[in-house]
Amino acid sequence: MAKLFGNLHLVMAIGLVAALALMLGFGAYTPVDSNSVARWLHLFFGVLWIGLLYYLNFVQVPTMPSIPDEQKGAISKHIAPKVLFFFRWAALLTVVTGLWIAMVNGYMIEALTFSGEGAVDLIGAGMWMALVMAFNVWFIIWPAQKKVLGIVEASAEEKAAAAPRALIASRTNVLLSIPMMWAMVSANLG
Ligand code: HEM
Repeated sequence: MAKLFGNLHLVMAIGLVAALALMLGFGAYTPVDSNSVARWLHLFFGVLWIGLLYYLNFVQVPTMPSIPDEQKGAISKHIAPKVLFFFRWAALLTVVTGLWIAMVNGYMIEALTFSGEGAVDLIGAGMWMALVMAFNVWFIIWPAQKKVLGIVEASAEEKAAAAPRALIASRTNVLLSIPMMWAMVSANLG
């Protein structure tokens, strides 16, 4: 048992088999199609992304100041780069799967231009908030963290300037995540 659960890939493969069993078992009621598969993957990547955003903001960043200097490297050299790897790719895949849902349901342009009505514009607002968040991840947080964590060369001044930039963008994303999730779960367009 310990051996099985010690193997993350195997655990995930079993989870996938369990999901396939639900798809087969309930296929008559909930079709397994491009729409439902996109929603399922969207939620997987969205949870991964926002989960890591909340880990960074609720756990890592507030705890850093109380970690003794000689132990800080465990976070900045080992944990944080791994977090940021999953964080940024999950953000991208959340965007791709989100746009995929909007496309297969035929409201992507209407939603993004707020020219639908009611719930279409609500999901449009959610999509724009999440797109701004993904932009922050790729074009502000990641470049700034690469300097802060020493993944790329940076002078002391550049590092000092990058840290607050990353923090503001990351906190903006925490703020936006709250109304964004309301739009995601309440639009109910299909
Ligand atoms: C740019 C990024 C994103 C885009 C373009 C996007 C787009 C969409 C779209 C079009 C829907 C379908 C709405 C409907 O038809 O009812 C949706 C649903 C949803 N989204 Fe996102 N989304 C994004 C980011 C996120 C994030 C970060 C989360 C966080 C967990 C999230 C969670 C959800 C959830 C839970 C649903 C409901 C699925 C369902 O009820 O079937 N989305 N999203």
